[in-house]
Parts: sequence; structure tokens; C-alpha cells
Amino acid sequence: MKGNLKNVAEALDGAWFHFRLKAGLKKPARRMKRLKSAWEAARRRGLLKSWYRERYDLAMHPIQSDVSVVPCEEVAACVQSRNKSHAPTFFATGYQQALEYFWELEDHGFPPDRMEKILDFGCGVGRLLIHFFPFKAKLFGCDVNETAIRTGSRTLGRRAALSLTGLLPPLPYAGDFFNLIYANSVFTHIRYDSQEIWMKELRRVLKPSGCLVLTAHPFLEPDQAPSEGWLEKDLQKGAHMDMLFTREKLAELVVRHFRLLEIREQPSGGPHVILTKGDL
Ligand SMILES: C[S@@+](CC[C@H](N)C(=O)[O-])C[C@H]1O[C@@H](n2cnc3c(N)ncnc32)[C@H](O)[C@@H]1O
Repeated sequence: MKGNLKNVAEALDGAWFHFRLKAGLKKPARRMKRLKSAWEAARRRGLLKSWYRERYDLAMHPIQSDVSVVPCEEVAACVQSRNKSHAPTFFATGYQQALEYFWELEDHGFPPDRMEKILDFGCGVGRLLIHFFPFKAKLFGCDVNETAIRTGSRTLGRRAALSLTGLLPPLPYAGDFFNLIYANSVFTHIRYDSQEIWMKELRRVLKPSGCLVLTAHPFLEPDQAPSEGWLEKDLQKGAHMDMLFTREKLAELVVRHFRLLEIREQPSGGPHVILTKGDL
């Protein structure tokens, strides 16, 4: 009986979230596509919700489905891509990616519920940081984009400390500070010359037993890549340029600064490079 009531409550909660997303859909021409993505967001939210409950005995935080954290089109376009102003896309991608991070962290012995300090490097408006809200860790985010930090600080409130940081180090954190640093779609937009400078800085602020996860674009095949193994694309887009690597070249760079645990292909996008500080 208690189980049935719980199932009914969960179904109603999912339906309510779906309804709120649907209510924000205004353009009839794209309504079918958008209805489908609102459904997909609700489905992925259900998966994430079960994960918190079954793995950590935690409930989701209200901010994780609060449509007021979704940036307007102008902010989304300036920070990452216009489609992130679409609430179902903003949430569906976030739920999926959060799960991917949690799975790989658990697999490598870095359970997020035991962490004290977590940094989202290149946090944007905090699209992924909100999924760490249920944990007890102190949350930090930093970004070079002033609009992102202003928007995120307003919507995330005091639970996360966001900082506007510079195009070059240092970051405003003490050495050996974080248990976890993740950089989602950030090193994919940092030019080759600055890649190692930032790896070195992230190594400085990571605890000796900490974990760093950075994402890459899908790897260049050796026959697509220049002989150096890397390629900068769309430089005219400024901060939105793309940095591509062969698998071998990126591995060669990261092992100068970290111990490489795994390069994991993830269904939601490019590979995740999972690292720990290790001895050099
Ligand atoms: C594609 S967006 C991703 C935002 C966020 N990580 C997410 O997944 O929603 C890339 C972000 O990295 C930030 N960024 C790029 N270079 C950076 C740097 N050196 N330090 C901090 N942030 C940086 C950009 O300003 C932008 O907000």
C-alpha cells in the first residue's frame, strides 16, 4: 500500500514537472518536437531522482527542476548555445550529464556524497552545478564570462560560490583545496597554447587524492589530424572556437600533469577524461 502510494506520488510529480515545461512552449510549429523533449526531460529526471534515492538516500533539490534557472536566449547564446534557453533541453542535457558524472565518479572510488569541496571550472550559468545541490559538499563555480557569473549568482543563490576569473591563472583558491573539479565543455574551447597552463593550475588547487574530469570533443582520427595531433577550428568565433585532439595527443598532454584513470566515451557528447593528481 505504502509502495503504491509512493509510485502514484512519483508519477504525479513527474507529470507536474512535464506540465510546467510544456506550459512554457509557445511556438506551435515546433510544438511536437518540443513536447517530445519535455517528455524526455521528465523521463531523465526520473532516472536521476531514483539514483539519488537508491544510491545516497537523498531527495532532489527543488532547484533541479526550477525553470527560473534556465537562461534567456540572449544569455544562453553568449555563454554556450542558444538551445540551452529551451527549458526541456537545459534540464534533459543536465540530468543526463549529471548521471554520467556520478556513474564514473563512483566507478573510480570518488563518491560525490563524501566530498567536501567541488569546483565546476567554466561553470557557465551553473547548468550542471545545480545537480550537486543535494550533496553536503561546498560548491564553487568559476568562469571568465561575466554574464554567466552574474546570471548564475542570481539564480543559484548562496548555496554555490561563483567567481569571475581571468583568462589566465591563478584561480582564487588555495592549493590542494578541491576533492573534485570538473570542466564540462571548457577545454574544448581553450586554445592549444593555454591548455597546459590551465591543467597545471587545476592540479595546484586539486587535493592529492582528488579527481579532475574534463570533457573533450569527439577525437580526431589520425588521418583527419595535422601531424601535431591537434586542430583549432572556427577561431573567428572567439571564445566559442573549438579545440580538437587525437586521443593520443590529449592523453600525452594530460599525463604531464595528472595520472590518467580512464577516457570514457559518453553517450551525451564527447569523451570524459578522468584524472587524479598522482605523483609526477
Ligand atoms: C560551452 S560552455 C559550458 C558551460 C558549462 N560548463 C555547461 O556545461 O553548461 C563553456 C564555458 O567555459 C567558460 N570558459 C572558457 N575558458 C575558460 C577559462 N579559462 N576559465 C574559466 N572558464 C572558461 C566559458 O566562458 C563558458 O561559460
